[in-house]
Amino acid sequence: MNVEKLFETLWNEYILLAPDALKIKKLFQDTQESNIINDHIALRTINNDICNIDILASAFTKLGYVKKDYYYFNNKKLLAYHFEHENKSYPKVFISALDIGKFEKHIAGILLGCIKKIPKDILNSNTLSSSGRHWNINYKTYELLYSKSEYAAWFYVFGFTANHFTISINHLENFDNIKDVNNFVKDKSYSLNTSGGEVKGSSSLLLEQSSTIAQSIEVKFEDGIYEIPSCFYEFAKRYKKDDGSLYSGFIEKSADLIFQSTNK
Ligand code: NI
Repeated sequence: MNVEKLFETLWNEYILLAPDALKIKKLFQDTQESNIINDHIALRTINNDICNIDILASAFTKLGYVKKDYYYFNNKKLLAYHFEHENKSYPKVFISALDIGKFEKHIAGILLGCIKKIPKDILNSNTLSSSGRHWNINYKTYELLYSKSEYAAWFYVFGFTANHFTISINHLENFDNIKDVNNFVKDKSYSLNTSGGEVKGSSSLLLEQSSTIAQSIEVKFEDGIYEIPSCFYEFAKRYKKDDGSLYSGFIEKSADLIFQSTNK
């Protein structure tokens, strides 16, 4: 396994859940010669001893990724770290985890019951992050989880998969600002997440982000087939710090709004 192969596997699983992302990528690819570069990907998990952030990150850290900044999202009860590689053309990896200690016992119990079903060989493998779900799901439980946490409900259905990929606007040849990127995407009839405005962050905060709304896909539950939001595509532009290097962190307030891209 190398870094390229790891992200190729993640991408291939992701576009099964978000076929629109493949179409949007092609639209941008058609505007330029060089490959589209990803700013970051995002993974979701549960904070527990079996599959916490460090365990999910191990496939990346084995390949040279380093743990960087810590984030906490009070309202959503999430913690997160981002990971970076010294090769700056490799995407950053943003891994969040539901702080299940902050939830009622029966809610935490449902999620822990799921996690206990993950096979040991998957937990120890390099492909945990793209291994999907390892438990059965029913819609009643999905709705119960959704009423407590959108994030918990999403994880319950999709498990381990990239929640989003993010196009690096800095590396686009024919776009240099996020508004043009947003207009290009909207002109092709894709909807953007408007929570807190289409653009999250600012040049003075050194990071601007926008994202599509997660597309809804049909999911087979034990008690029926239902359409629910899956994955979305993000766009990010980074600005230089005083030392001349690009800011590589994340802004909690912006990330908090981006999380809402998977709301129903
Ligand atoms: Ni993101």
